[in-house]
Amino acid sequence: MKIDPWGSVRIEDYSKLFDEFGIARFEGMLRKLPDAHRLMRRKVIFGHRGYEMIVDAIVRGEPFAVMSGFMPSGKVHLGGKMVMEEIIYHQQMGGDAFVAIADMEAHSVRGISWRDCERLGVEEYILSLIALGFKPEGHIYFQSKSRTIQDLLFELGCGVNFTELSAIYGLKSDTKISHLTSVLAQSADILQPQLEEFGGPKPTVIPVGADQDPHIRLARDVANRMRMFFVEAREGYISIRGKDIDKKMLEKLEQMFDCKSKLYEAHLDLYGDYTLDEVDRIVREFEIKLGGYGFIPPASTYHRFMSGLTGGKMSSSIPESFIALTEPPESAARKVMRAKTGGRVTLKEQQELGGIPEDCSVYDLLLFHLVEDDHEVEEIYRECVNGKRSCGTCKKLAAELITGFLKDHQDRREDARLRLKEYEVVGVI
Ligand code: TRP
Ligand code: SF4
Repeated sequence: MKIDPWGSVRIEDYSKLFDEFGIARFEGMLRKLPDAHRLMRRKVIFGHRGYEMIVDAIVRGEPFAVMSGFMPSGKVHLGGKMVMEEIIYHQQMGGDAFVAIADMEAHSVRGISWRDCERLGVEEYILSLIALGFKPEGHIYFQSKSRTIQDLLFELGCGVNFTELSAIYGLKSDTKISHLTSVLAQSADILQPQLEEFGGPKPTVIPVGADQDPHIRLARDVANRMRMFFVEAREGYISIRGKDIDKKMLEKLEQMFDCKSKLYEAHLDLYGDYTLDEVDRIVREFEIKLGGYGFIPPASTYHRFMSGLTGGKMSSSIPESFIALTEPPESAARKVMRAKTGGRVTLKEQQELGGIPEDCSVYDLLLFHLVEDDHEVEEIYRECVNGKRSCGTCKKLAAELITGFLKDHQDRREDARLRLKEYEVVGVI
């Protein structure tokens, strides 16, 4: 059996995503990133769309943004921590960071009252985000309270129709209009970092779980749809196509380039030494002068989900299945001690056959969250599959580590509460 401590066996469960939906494998990015995150190295982050441009921006020290959002619908658990860490990682790599508290979605889809959205947003999500290291230069906002989001979602809604949303989300005739509005709000969240008020078009990465891919596909489509010009490399020349643009505009655009060119009714061909990137940048600037957006389709990363402590998925309706960032450390330790492992029924079998870390929620805990050192995780994996490790050892280790982590995190949350003033949160006075 091939030893793969990062559980790539399970990643194959996601292979449909690669083939059917065109998500690329993240592995190729690892070599190029100067300082890959723990979740990347361990293949928890397994897929991406368009992440190449984020790597380039990181390596060259060029502007980029990171954004993700949270529905304030209950307690933050370790899955939420994962997204927070991914945002913070990109912020540390130089990205301008945006965090949406998706109260419109929580209210319209989950029926959470506005008052609870506000309370949970600050109390659960924002405090933990800050406690985990989010810096005050980043932007945090409640969707419903951001004028910019409201305006942008309305504008994006001019370019999206019911049939298209149906195809992506499988809408029914009784789907609530506000649900659709919240879907557009998410596209607005994703594209907001590229607005002029935040410095204009830039590569943006959206770290999410694989379940959020429909939202990413929509936002990427909409980003393209809002463009006034499309730039394409052809054999020996670069072609710029205009959409609903009169020829006068193309004439003006032609003057921006110092090379041989040919103007047609709805497109302009450039024969010169300009690289595609250069042309792209000039065209975007021109588009913005005309009042357009010049959006770059956002990139995304996808992480797989940790298995629930009771086996199967983590579910907010089964408290034993997950660990919340605000729960008493003793309670978390108790859950770990009772968790489902990939161990065999008897010790003898365990020694003969070895355990199955791929089916072990305790292993997932250690791999995703609790053990910093890669070698240590590898060692645990090896001992497990070779029958040299007992599940009791892992549980004790995980219980100890989760206790320490939660104590520390909860102290940091109290500290964050005192420092909340240093953060400008749109929607919190
Ligand atoms: N829909 C996301 C969820 O269910 C929350 C969300 C809102 C979001 N806006 C976003 C995620 C923007 C990524 C980017 O958790
Ligand atoms: Fe899981 Fe550890 Fe048991 Fe292996 S020994 S199945 S990793 S708890």
